[in-house]
Amino acid sequence: MNNTRKMILDGKIVAQAIYEEIKTEISSSSKKPKLWVILVGNNPSSLRYIKQKQKWAEFVGIEFELFSFESDVSEKELLEKVTFLNKDDTIHGYIVQLPLPKHINEKNIINSILPEKDVDGFHPQNQGKIVIWDDSWMAPCTPAGMMELLKYYKIDALWKNIVIIGRSNIVGKPIANLLINASATVTICNSKTQNIEFYTKNADIIITAMGAPHFLTVDKINPKSIILDVGFTIIDEKIYGDSDFENIIKNGNAITPVPGWVWALTVSCLMKNTLKAFKNRK
Ligand code: GUN
Repeated sequence: MNNTRKMILDGKIVAQAIYEEIKTEISSSSKKPKLWVILVGNNPSSLRYIKQKQKWAEFVGIEFELFSFESDVSEKELLEKVTFLNKDDTIHGYIVQLPLPKHINEKNIINSILPEKDVDGFHPQNQGKIVIWDDSWMAPCTPAGMMELLKYYKIDALWKNIVIIGRSNIVGKPIANLLINASATVTICNSKTQNIEFYTKNADIIITAMGAPHFLTVDKINPKSIILDVGFTIIDEKIYGDSDFENIIKNGNAITPVPGWVWALTVSCLMKNTLKAFKNRK
């Protein structure tokens, strides 16, 4: 890992390598995996994300289908669709794009997805399997993508002091469990942690997933820390990560640039999970 200092960790390169691998594997199969995306309403960010998912599904050879509901669809109707997707053997994996409108209980929807088809890895059963390291899990895609990034750049989590800032169910908690299983020493902080520098200054790797633009500044880190910035905040149409990228890179740290890397890796791991769901059912 010596020459990762002063280096940009490029998630797009890692994602491309994952896509090529999946494409090769699917091209040698007579049957194709099938992925469905359920969208409620027409949130512009969701539409943009789904476009990316469709583009890369088609690139790797996964059949893709988008099913859209109006934003006033009832929770009951949405649950009926989930039941239909759970039962349809031709569909290997599906996701319900988040966020959902406020009148729909997100947890009820996620909990109703068949864990074997839960290619987002959001279902409690998949989250629980990560904790006990049962290899049949479908890991949430952003944490899985981070593990791919570390693997690609030969950054071994073993013996590392890793500080995660953010405790969400889809990033902070699952990445903590994946890293614990990789024998790292993991500390989970959050926006209310007192004297956060105490933790970040002693970290080999810092993962920020808070949505607090430029929170992580040079004075809070040591020059050897590797920074994975999962922050994504839009202000006046400009996207900000959680870290002061310009000054941190000048400081000599290896860091991921925002935006780009998280999404590339998240989508590539969605395709990887879909292939896994397909193979599990063959
Ligand atoms: N909205 C933003 N990111 C995601 C994601 O990874 N999965 C789903 N289902 N919705 C999202």
